[in-house]
Formats: sequence, structure tokens, C-alpha cells
Amino acid sequence: LGRTILYYPVCDSTQNIAAETARDGAPHGTLVITEVQTSGRGRLERAWNSSANKGIWMSVIIRPEISPHQAPQFTLVSAVAITKAIESLTGCVPEIKWPNDLLINGKKVTGILTELQADMDRVQSIIIGIGVNVNQDSNSFNESIQSIATSLKMETGIEIDRAALVAKILFYLEKYSRMYVENGFEPIKLLWESYSCTIGKRIRASLLRETLEGVAIGITADGVLELRLDTGEIRGIYSADINLIDK
Ligand code: BTN
Repeated sequence: LGRTILYYPVCDSTQNIAAETARDGAPHGTLVITEVQTSGRGRLERAWNSSANKGIWMSVIIRPEISPHQAPQFTLVSAVAITKAIESLTGCVPEIKWPNDLLINGKKVTGILTELQADMDRVQSIIIGIGVNVNQDSNSFNESIQSIATSLKMETGIEIDRAALVAKILFYLEKYSRMYVENGFEPIKLLWESYSCTIGKRIRASLLRETLEGVAIGITADGVLELRLDTGEIRGIYSADINLIDK
């Protein structure tokens, strides 16, 4: 990964550029990276705060030999890879909040957005968008997210070498993507669960049309979160906002 690099001092969103470049045939492993995004995007059509040149805003194009229904698992592969990268560079161990947030001391340090380009039965490419808050101070964040966002510098007290972290992320992304393609999801699932702050906890899941409460008991081979409701019924959650609740 990262043998082809498209670097922009400023762009709208590396995710948009990567999607276009992938459609034009960019090779597996192409990295699109920028200092500043003017319209960074998050999950569920949300804006992603990336105006400061103090984070890592990057998208990686991968072309794995998998079928489209396996693609969501790459979000979980990426979460494990970035957790490992942060742990190995800083010694700080983030927790993974399903499906794709990395938290340190309960605050978000990384978001991941995976987008799929596929035909009926073939994955053309997966675009893994990664946003890491690295060297921001608390006043770099909008007031609205100051209580929920943090940066590696805020947590460790030291300025982090962003290039070194990008290299680590690519290294672990390559390692765990290969592990996934060669050995299946089980080893990734175990790693993911070991870093998870969701499994075993009581959560509230806000879905499009309903809100469910229960205990998160695990993830399936498809990366679906399994929730045991108070009635005993087990529900699979494919996409939702989740909150841990104390009880
Ligand atoms: C989320 O937590 O909702 C996902 C955030 C993903 C942000 C990254 S930053 C690089 C790439 N470009 C974007 O516009 N978004 C992703």
C-alpha cells in the first residue's frame, strides 16, 4: 500500500478524489492524502472537522479479491490496523467503538469511512477514508465537538510525527488486510473484540426508524453488531449510532 501517492496541500475531501481516481483505474494501494480538507465527510452524511493541518486526512484505494457483501468487514480490519498503528507509535491504546470510532479516554480520536465501488458480484474497489486527530489542541475543535473529540497530542502531551504515523497505518493496514484475505475474518474479529469498548456493555442503538436498548454481545462474521434486547430477542445491527449507557 502507498506505492502511488497523491498529495494535496488542500482539497475538498480525499474520499471524493480517491473515488474519482479509483473509477479512472488507479492501482490497488493508491494513497490520497492532504493537509487540509474543505469539505471532509463522515459517516451518515456528517461533516468531518479537518480544516487544521494537524491531523491525518487520507484515503486508501484497495482492490481485494472479495465479494461485495464482505466489504463492511474492511471497516473493522481498518479499525484494528489503526489501533495497532497508534499503539505502536504512541503507546496509547485506543478503544474501538462499533463500528468505526477509535476513542481514547472516551473521546473520539479517529473516524473511518469505507465506501464500496462494486458490480453485482465483484468488488471494484474499497475506499478506506481515515481521519486521525493528531496534533490539535482543544481549541482547534469546534465548540460543538470539544467535549467529544480529542487528539493524540492532547492525550499523550507530545507532538506526534504525522508522517511516521501514516507509515505505521499503511504497514498495519497491509498486514491485517492480508491476514483477512488469507485467513478469513475470525482472527480479525478476535483482535477487534479485544480492543472493543462496546462488547459486553449495555447500549442504545439509534436506527433510522427505531431506537433499541440491550447488551452488545458480539459481532458476526459480517461485522454486524448483535444486540440482546431485554426480551431476550437477539437483533443484528447493520448501521446505527450507538451510545453506551450506564445501568
Ligand atoms: C466518521 O467518523 O464519521 C468517519 C470520518 C472519516 C474522515 C476521513 S478524513 C479522510 C477522508 N476524507 C473524508 O472526507 N472523510 C474521510
